[in-house]
Order: sequence, then C-alpha cells, then structure tokens
Amino acid sequence: MSTDTIPPHGGKLIDRLATPDEKSDFLAKADSLPRVRLDKRATSDLVMIAIGGFSPISGFMERQDYLNVVDNMRLASGIPWSVPVTLSVSEEEANSLKEGDLVRLDNPNGQFVGVLQLTEKYSYDKKREATQVYRTDEDKHPGVKVIYEQGSVNLAGPVWLLERFPHPLFPKYQIDPTASRAAFAEKGWKTVVGFQTRNPIHRAHEYIIKCALEIVDGLFLHPLVGATKSDDIPAEVRMRCYEIMMEHYFPQDRVILAINPSAMRYAGPREAIFHALIRKNYGCTHFIVGRDHAGVGDYYGTYDAQKIFEEFEPGELGITPLKFEHAFYCTRTKQMATAKTSPSNKEERIHLSGTKVRGMLREGKLPPPEFSRPEVASELSRAMQVKV
Ligand code: ADX
Repeated sequence: MSTDTIPPHGGKLIDRLATPDEKSDFLAKADSLPRVRLDKRATSDLVMIAIGGFSPISGFMERQDYLNVVDNMRLASGIPWSVPVTLSVSEEEANSLKEGDLVRLDNPNGQFVGVLQLTEKYSYDKKREATQVYRTDEDKHPGVKVIYEQGSVNLAGPVWLLERFPHPLFPKYQIDPTASRAAFAEKGWKTVVGFQTRNPIHRAHEYIIKCALEIVDGLFLHPLVGATKSDDIPAEVRMRCYEIMMEHYFPQDRVILAINPSAMRYAGPREAIFHALIRKNYGCTHFIVGRDHAGVGDYYGTYDAQKIFEEFEPGELGITPLKFEHAFYCTRTKQMATAKTSPSNKEERIHLSGTKVRGMLREGKLPPPEFSRPEVASELSRAMQVKV
C-alpha cells in the first residue's frame, strides 16, 4: 500500500471550502440568512469536513447516517464510520428554521465561518447515542455530558467553510490532508504511521512511536488541538513538548509534526476507529493504538480500543492499526518495555499515568526521567507553575 495510492475514506477527498464566487455570494447574503452559533466542537467539525479530514462526510449527518452510525458503526451507504458528526440546537431554535434554508454558521465568537444547507432536522435519542457510542449513559463521562447538555434537535445537510484561516497559534503546523499527502509523496514515504495524542509526550509514547518507526517509512505526529476537557494540558504546552522531541529525540527527516484540529470525544474504542479514519484521510497507511486509546476514567478496558478493529472485515477500514501493549520503564533492563519484551516482575516496572504526573507538577515536583525526557519535564513544570 503506498501513499500515492492509499485512497481517502470513501474514495475521494472531500473539499467543502467555498469557492471565491460562493464566498462572495454568501457574504452578500450574510445579514439576511438565519444564524446558528456553533460551539467549539461543531466549529472544528466544520473545518474537518471542509478540509477532507472527515471524508466521505460532506456535512452534518442526516438521520439515516446518524442512526446507522450510532447502531451499526456505518454510514447509510455501508461505509464504516464510528462517531456521529452532528449539529444540535434547541427545539425552539430548530422551529425557527425551515428545511431548504441556507443557514449562516457563526463560530463561538460570533464570526461568520460557514454555511449549512439545511436538508433535514430531526430529534434523536440522547441516551441511546450515549450508550451505543460511549458505552455508558453516565453524565460524569465528558463526552456523554456534552450530549446531555446540547440541544435536542440535529440540523443536517452539506456545509461550506467560508475561509481556511491559518491557525492562530500553530500556523506552521497546519498541514491539511491535501498537503500531508503531497508531503508524504515528496518524501517518497510508501508507508506512514499516524500518531494521535492529546497528552504531553512521555517516554511510553516515544517508545511505541519508535517501535512503529522501525517498520514504516515515516511518522505523522498528529496531536489533537481542538476542544479537550478542562483538566487536560493546554495545546500550547503540549505543542512545545512535541517541538522539544522533534529537536532532540526524533529523526527529523522521518517525522512530520502537524496539528489535528478536531475536538476530543473521549469515546475510547469508537474514537479509535474515528481517529484512524481521519489519519487515513491525511494519507497514513498505519495508525498507532496503544493502551486505553482516547479513554477517560475507567469506562473502557485497557485494550477495548484495539479489539474494536476486529469488528470490521480485513481491508474494510483501509488503514492498518499498529497495536501496542501498556508500556512502562523497566528498572531491570533500564529501558522502556512492555510485558511482551520485558523479563521484569511487577516491582521493577514504573508505570506513571498522566493524572499522577499532573499531581506531581502541581506539587512543584519534576516528573522523573523514567517518565519524561528532562527537557519536556522542565517545560511542563514551567508551564504548570505559570498556570497556578
Ligand atoms: S489519547 O486520548 O490521544 O489516546 P494519549 O495522548 O495519552 O491519549 O495517547 C496517545 C496514544 O498513545 C494512544 O494510542 C494511547 O493508547 C497510547 N498510549 C498512551 N500511554 C501509553 C502507554 N503507557 N503504553 C502504551 N500506549 C500508550
């Protein structure tokens, strides 16, 4: 499988950026169109749809797609898709809109960012979505909480993004699917592994990334910078950590660092599929799935996000998951390892979770070198002290 032949999901990269003519037409109509204000997640979903990151999805999901995704992990066409991409509003707001309307979409600051051609509005079963997609209906789950707090009617239809602005914080890392595909081809990479992350990079991440790099041509280091829950480390801090890794610890010619603008859902296994399909659209042939991928609390089993890939026929997803066991620092061999490679007993294994490390940082302690590279630890400690 080579990158010039790895097709986007569904076969064609979606492009929903308004053409210059469409844009001037929308701008001329801007004041007369009914408006919907998007939250942070829907704003990044709009961007992801427009740049092809969510191909073959070209708009907010209609009921048939939505129901199929929730119940069967497939779009109505049968193409695998694991997470709903929807735009929810209150019943009152929905009643003010007519099917067939062009709707102006504003971002959370009230800026005009896109247009929806409203083809359908429908109510949906929140509890069912929660149970099917998130495997729990508890409102303590951050993804489920979002569903319960959002409106009860979904607005559906194709969208246009008015303009692709450079990212305000990380413009040089804004590499959209067309550009990443071109970059992989230019480097001659036939196999590329995508790495999703929402946490500051630690030694276990580095270990599984490097194991993967031993068998593929290049790494697409693709941290998520869209909305995350409030106690996750901010994207600016995380990006500085990845830059440090690029400077000191990764072979620069074999790694491309780029931002993933999407929002986290914390849907564990379902989100692992979603994350893999997004990376396929960016041109990756492989995707890393480690321990409790996209998980939160103890809602998911350690390897549930790996097992879910078996629910699809080989080749159906069109991207190969590279599955890694829980990695730790082994004090006997003095290196990172997993149970597959380490002869150590339990006492010789240093496991550190992100939660523990955040606690250490708050107390002014530096994460140990078994957990973080020292330059990354200092960056985290500096950032956390500034924050407190
Ligand atoms: S995630 O929400 O994006 O999955 P995180 O940034 O912590 O969170 O993880 C990025 C990737 O690294 C995921 O595939 C995750 O499963 C994997 N991972 C994180 N920590 C470990 C670990 N100690 N051992 C193995 N894989 C890990």
